[in-house]
Amino acid sequence: MTMSRITQNDDPRAHWRAVYETRAPTEVSWYEPVPRRSLELIQAAGLPPGSALLDVGGGASTLADHLLEMGFTDVTVLDIAETALARARARMGSAATRVQWINEDVTVWEPTRRYDLWHDRAVFHFLVDPALRARYVAVLRAALAPHGHVVMATFGPEGPTRCSGLDVQRYSARQLGAVLGPGFRLVRDHLEDHVTPAGRRQQFLYGWWQAEPGPSSWRPAAEVTDRERAALAGERRPEGP
Ligand SMILES: C[S@@+](CC[C@H](N)C(=O)[O-])C[C@H]1O[C@@H](n2cnc3c(N)ncnc32)[C@H](O)[C@@H]1O
Repeated sequence: MTMSRITQNDDPRAHWRAVYETRAPTEVSWYEPVPRRSLELIQAAGLPPGSALLDVGGGASTLADHLLEMGFTDVTVLDIAETALARARARMGSAATRVQWINEDVTVWEPTRRYDLWHDRAVFHFLVDPALRARYVAVLRAALAPHGHVVMATFGPEGPTRCSGLDVQRYSARQLGAVLGPGFRLVRDHLEDHVTPAGRRQQFLYGWWQAEPGPSSWRPAAEVTDRERAALAGERRPEGP
């Protein structure tokens, strides 16, 4: 099967594994030498160096390298493609041992700890299936620490409708905030053009939200029941009674 015949919904792992097997990280359309806007928003969050930072669908991005350089000591990169994580580790050399690497599909991931900051650039917009979007948001809510920060970048309202051979969903800050649901305060948002290595311009939306804990909104992972966690992780039932 050729790569273009695989869709994110059919077999996302195979799709993304093939992308990073066949293309250098500097050639892919989403490549940016320095993830400036992400770093700016993460810095603006003002978190102490020991805070837990998670880059969801981090791929071979250099974000983790820069976070270590900024002095952060608890950095995790999660990605569905082991080939992407291998590329990132190879680039970082010995510094890679200071990062925690998780090879998982975020929509079925069961986080075992909480994070002070959840970062996602160009991952969520591939979830065109509402059920997958709901699972993503449920995982995000389970993984986020009280008053945690969410920095997300998707294609903006005038961004591309496809990327990497896949359909995408475009968002304004208001639309993305609505998907996150209640309990998040929008702190800042930006629309900006990303210039691909091939010279094309793509509009991105960057949004930064902070969780505002409350009874009907965000809840810490510890308060999520096993049944909810099982539902969140793909309708699997927890073991035992
Ligand atoms: C367009 S790339 C963006 C990579 C990186 N965030 C960046 O800005 O350079 C999308 C990334 O999301 C990962 N990805 C796609 N679907 C995923 C999922 N369901 N769970 C985890 N990672 C996923 C892909 O493997 C890929 O690395």
